[in-house]
Parts: sequence; structure tokens; C-alpha cells
Amino acid sequence: MTELVTTLAGLRAALAPWRDGPIAMVPTMGALHDGHLSLVHEAARHAPRTVVSIFVNPTQFAPHEDFDAYPRTLEADMARLDGSADIVFAPSPAEMYPRGFATLVSVGGPSQGLESDFRPHFFAGVATVVAKLLLAAMPDVAVFGEKDYQQLLVVRRLAADLGLVTRIVGAPTLREADGLAMSSRNAYLDPRERTIAAQMNRILKDVIARAAGGDLHGAEDEGRAALLDAGFDKVDYVAIRDAASLAPVRDLSRPARVLAAAHLGRTRLIDNMPVNV
Ligand code: PAJ
Repeated sequence: MTELVTTLAGLRAALAPWRDGPIAMVPTMGALHDGHLSLVHEAARHAPRTVVSIFVNPTQFAPHEDFDAYPRTLEADMARLDGSADIVFAPSPAEMYPRGFATLVSVGGPSQGLESDFRPHFFAGVATVVAKLLLAAMPDVAVFGEKDYQQLLVVRRLAADLGLVTRIVGAPTLREADGLAMSSRNAYLDPRERTIAAQMNRILKDVIARAAGGDLHGAEDEGRAALLDAGFDKVDYVAIRDAASLAPVRDLSRPARVLAAAHLGRTRLIDNMPVNV
């Protein structure tokens, strides 16, 4: 049986008896899909006990973004986790951000550029809530998806810089049969948009193939044009970056990653893939 815990004090108390062995944590915003569940299965490889947090974190949404519309499906999420998570931590916004809350965790390095150019407050919100979750649960391992590749690097940086006890584990992106990266936001897509959305992954593969010829800028430009041709309304970026630092690269002598973000109707989709492995 999965236990539902809604307060930070309750979380600490529920975890106390388990401190004799490793504990894993999987932070999420809920509306769980198979991609999230793959992180929970990865967590089980590292620890006999797993906590899944479900919290739609207001500080990582800008006022014009989809905080209110974001799907909240706690009962269905609990049912999906039954048997694989020991605790679901689902606090209220007031529990995480009580009156007078005035702290934001700001990570430099990998948080610069890409998502931050278009969502300037996003990583401070993510870093603040992830720091708070990891400090409350003090898990031995926390699992994050490569789907949000820049976020994974930001969380790694955060954990290293703050000296958190938690080891950050990255897990591969789970995709639908047609290549679309699973995402809670895919629920926003209508059938026409859903068909277009699947093109993003195909286009990233084309960018990788073109980049292998050496013209990285040409490959990025072609990717942006192809997304618009496919029916995306606006492209935020298609960028080939160093896989470890996300710094711009001139060639593929070191591991690189192609990352993209684009708008389709009211939905913003992101995806990324390794360029050379
Ligand atoms: P959310 O979007 O719910 O994602 C929770 C975790 O699931 C993240 O680590 C994300 O990378 C991973 N994930 C999402 N889609 C995936 C897929 N298709 N395959 C594998 N993993 C996938 O990311 C967040 O929530 C929040 O920013 C959070 C870290 C919880 C902080 O609020």
C-alpha cells in the first residue's frame, strides 16, 4: 500500500524508520505517465524504499504559463503507483511556501541559456523546490529524466554545490511508439497537433544526421525550419550543445546533445537527444 503524506514533518516522520537502508526519491508534478513510472522503476534498482513527490510547483511557472491548467490527477496517480512507491508526498502550496516565504535557490552554470532564455524564472523555481524536497527527504538517490536534460544538469549542479547527500541519477526518455517524448503536457494536444508533435523527434534525428557532416549551425537552422514546416507555430530553439556543460560547441569532438523547444497551439514541447554516443 502506498502511503499518502502531505506535510514536511509527516514526510520526515514516515521516513525515519527506514533510515537503516537506502531511500530513493522521484520528484514529479503528477499526471503520471509511463515515463514517470520508468523513473520509479529505476529508483527501485537503487533502494528498497521509494518516495514519489507530486507537487505542481507554482514558483516554476510564469504568470502567463499553464499553472492553473496543469493536470492534477492525484487519485489516478496514487493508483498507478500502488505497489511501486512506498510513499507519495503530495503537499499543498501553503505547506511548501508558507506565508512569508522569501528564499529562492539560484543555480548558474547549466541553467544559463536555452530554457532560461524563454522561461527566465523557471530554474530558480525548480532548484528551490528540488532543494526543499531533497532536504526534507534526504534520500540516498533521486532520479530525474533526461527528457528535461537541462533540468537534470541543473539539479546535478545544485546537489554538488550545496553538498547534498543525495546522488542524482539520470534516466532515459520514454517515448510513444511514433517517437513523441511522453509528457504530461501531451494531454493538451488535439489530434491534429498530436500528429505534428511526433515530428519533433524525427526532426532531431535529421539534425543529428546533418551535424555528423560537420556543419552544426546549418543543422540547427535546418531543424528550426523543419519544425515550422511540420506545423509548429513558433520555435524557441534548436541547439547543439556540449552534453556535460551545455556550452556551445564548434565540433563534435566531445559528447554533444541536440535540444529543442517549440510551440504547438497553446502547448510548448521540449525534446533532446545525444548527438554522438
Ligand atoms: P515533471 O514534468 O512531472 O517530471 C518529473 C520527472 O519525470 C522529471 O525528472 C522528468 O525529466 C521526468 N520525465 C518526464 N517525462 C519523461 C519521459 N518521457 N521519460 C522519462 N522521464 C520523464 O520535471 C518536473 O516535473 C519538475 O520540474 C520537478 C523536477 C518535479 C520540480 O518541480
